[in-house]
Order: sequence, then C-alpha cells, then structure tokens
Amino acid sequence: MSKLVSLAKRRGFVFQASEIYGGIGSSWDYGPLGVELKRNVKDAWWRAMVHERDDIVGLDSAIIQHPKVWEASGHIENFTDPLVDCLKCKGRFRADKLDDARCLEKPSKKPGECGGELTAPRRFNLMFKTFLGPVEEGAATAYLRPETAQGIFTNFVNVQQAARKKPPFGIAQIGKSFRNEITPGNFIFRTREFEQMEMEFFVPPAQWEQWYGEWRKLRQQWYVDLGMDPAKLRLRDHAKDELAHYSNGCTDVEYLFPFGWSELEGIASRTDFDLKRHSQFSGKDLQYFDEQTKEHYVPYVIEPAAGCDRATLAFLVDAYTEELVEGEVRVVMKLHPRLAPLKVAILPLVKKDGMPERARALEKSLRQRFTTFYDEAGAIGRRYRRMDEVGTPFCVTIDGQTAADGTVTVRHRDSMQQERVAEKALESHLSAAMAAWSRGAR
Ligand code: GAP
Repeated sequence: MSKLVSLAKRRGFVFQASEIYGGIGSSWDYGPLGVELKRNVKDAWWRAMVHERDDIVGLDSAIIQHPKVWEASGHIENFTDPLVDCLKCKGRFRADKLDDARCLEKPSKKPGECGGELTAPRRFNLMFKTFLGPVEEGAATAYLRPETAQGIFTNFVNVQQAARKKPPFGIAQIGKSFRNEITPGNFIFRTREFEQMEMEFFVPPAQWEQWYGEWRKLRQQWYVDLGMDPAKLRLRDHAKDELAHYSNGCTDVEYLFPFGWSELEGIASRTDFDLKRHSQFSGKDLQYFDEQTKEHYVPYVIEPAAGCDRATLAFLVDAYTEELVEGEVRVVMKLHPRLAPLKVAILPLVKKDGMPERARALEKSLRQRFTTFYDEAGAIGRRYRRMDEVGTPFCVTIDGQTAADGTVTVRHRDSMQQERVAEKALESHLSAAMAAWSRGAR
C-alpha cells in the first residue's frame, strides 16, 4: 500500500486534501490522472447498468433531502456505530473494531492494552448534520445524505411514471455520500466523503430471490470484465446479525486488498421496507398498479451498492505490478484500457528532423478519439517507463522511418512488444487492440 500511495501522489492520481495545511483526516483529492481513472470507473458502471440495459434508468437526486427522509429510512434511529473513548489518550474508537485500531500514544498497542481505561460503548450516529438557512436551530437541521439510495426511493413514483417502467426495473445513481466515520483509513478505502454507485431494482415480491441471485452474479462479473483478478474476488454472505435494519439478505463482493479481504460492494435484498416506510411517513401511496393483473403491490428491492473510490483503489491495487526487466524493476499499472487514464502516448524519437511536428499533428488527430499524452523529453526508454507507471496501454513513436514510409511504432504496455503500423490505420488499429485486450494476455 505504501508504494501505491507514493506512486499515486508522485504521478498525480491522489493527493492528500489540504496538504499545504498539514492535511485533514482521511480526505483525498484526485489529481489529473486520478480524476480520469475515477471517471472511467463511473462510466463503465453507468454503461453496464444503464446504457446496455433497457430495464434500468438513471437519476441524480439532491444531497440534502427533507429531514423526514432520514426518519423514514431509519437512519436517524439506526445508522450508528458503537463508540468508546480512551480516558487516557482521549482517542475515540469503534468498539467493534478495536482489533484494527491503535492507541494514539502507544501505536504498538491496541486501545485498552496500553493501560488506558475505555468507556462503555455508546451509539454514535454517522450522519453529518448541517443547518438550512441562516439560523442554526433544531428546526433547521438537515443532513448530508449517508447513501444515495433514499433519493431513489422518494422518486420511485416520479421515475416509474415518467419513464413508463414496469417492475422488474431499476433506477441507478452515482453521487457523493457522507458518513462521519469514527475510524476512516486505508487511503481512499474508508473516508468521510465518498462516491457511491447505487442501483435500486424494483421487482414483484415473488421474484426477489431470483433477482437477488442474478445481481450477485452480475456484479462480481463486472469487476472481472474490467480486468480484475478473479482469484482476488469473492462473494461473502452476511450472517443474520450483520444485516442492516432494512435487509433480509446481503452479500458483499470482496477484494483481497493488501490489508486483507474487504468489502467492495454490497448486494442487499431490502424487501419493501423503504417504500413502505416512505409511504407511511409521507402519507403518499407508493404502490405499483399492475394493469394486467389489476393488482396493487409495493415492489421488493434488490440493491447493488458499490463504492466508487473503493473500486478505484481496488483497480489500482490489482493493476500494480513490478517486473524485472534487464536487471531493472519495471513498475507497470496493468489497467484495463477502458480504465486507463491515458490511452495513447505520442513520442517523437528525437527532437529534430520534423519528428516533433509530425507527432504533434498525429496527437491532435488522435485526441478526437482517445485521451492522449505528448512527451518529447528524455530518452525513449525512460518515456516508455513513465507511461508504464501510469498504465498507458499504447505508446506510439514517430521515428526516421515514419517520414520514409508513413509507418509508426506501436509499443504495447504489457508485453512491451513493438509493431509497425501505417499512420493512416493507427486509429482503427488502436481501437481494435483495446477491444481485444484481455487479462490473460498480459
Ligand atoms: N445503500 C446501501 C449502502 O449504502 P453500504 O454497504 O453502507 O450500503 C455501499 O455502502 C458501498 O459504499 C460500500 O460497499 C462501499 O464500497 C462504499 N462505502 C461505504 N462507506 C464508505 C466509506 N466510508 N468510504 C468509502 N466508501 C464507502
């Protein structure tokens, strides 16, 4: 992890937020390459969940909702973690995660082992509070959403009617969520501000088990299709005492991070809990009327809920590779080309003989189709290595032969193999090579 964190900073994937002021606990900023990578993760999710299906539509709901939303959802009452204080070092820890925590004064010890007395656990609500308008009083209290899901439930009827959808159908949303985590950590794995990619799939009650099974399979496969090592992915069913207050079944897709197997996303069966509660609290009818059977019913919900930052971290961890090449360590990010922040680097072999001009012109035309990067500084080998480190799948070199026969060298990141390709055919050649990329071949 420490190698990855330092590469992420050095190459502009992720920076510590407010670094010039000493940073702020577990807040991170995405740099020029990180923002591209994260966008690609979100685009891949949106494509798989919305654009490639005819039974899911999108939504972008507000972060600040009516406070009643969180009463109805159960978050005000139940969205808590057990908190203990150490009376000696004044540290605050999650009572159920003491094994993973460290004493603030003696980091070699766990809280409680250092001689400090721990208070009895008390329930700490993870929602961030704020105030609407200029008066800071109870009546103006609002919350930053701790999950994007509730904006989907409150819009169930709006979307169903506007999009003329009939269960089974889903509503997908990507957006920021906020949780005042007691112990954030592991880089961008657990933070207080993060992005979620959530989809609520509304089904006739009798079909919930079938769809729960279907979404478990589909969501694990999504990571594999984007190049993640299947041996480092697994599904883990929640035990009864782990289930959230709204759920009668939940499976996590877990990834083997350097710090152990950890949750990437949860696929939860939320029953009809949320729609019924919103119906009860708002007084609005949130049933679906089936024209064919003439039946009114409250749909059941299957929810695949993924973390965008966590997925981004997992893709980075999974792609990070060190190889020994000619006695030197080559660091290469073997990212799937769809996720790679830069797709093609254009490199003139030397800074003379018209090569930079030709390379610039080529870059300009490829820019219409791919995210490109132009680099003429330093030896070609070093330029290749810089691109390997940020996961650029293809480097295109303009050399002496280009002027003579109109061909360029295409160098493949994973195999380091080079081939000559006609400049005119380059765009379609690169598209085909990206489409043909597979993990096995790397
Ligand atoms: N709507 C259901 C829900 O929010 P969750 O398991 O609490 O379920 C879903 O969150 C996903 O959101 C998690 O699997 C994780 O990927 C991501 N997530 C949750 N809390 C997070 C945090 N503090 N930092 C980063 N990602 C988080």
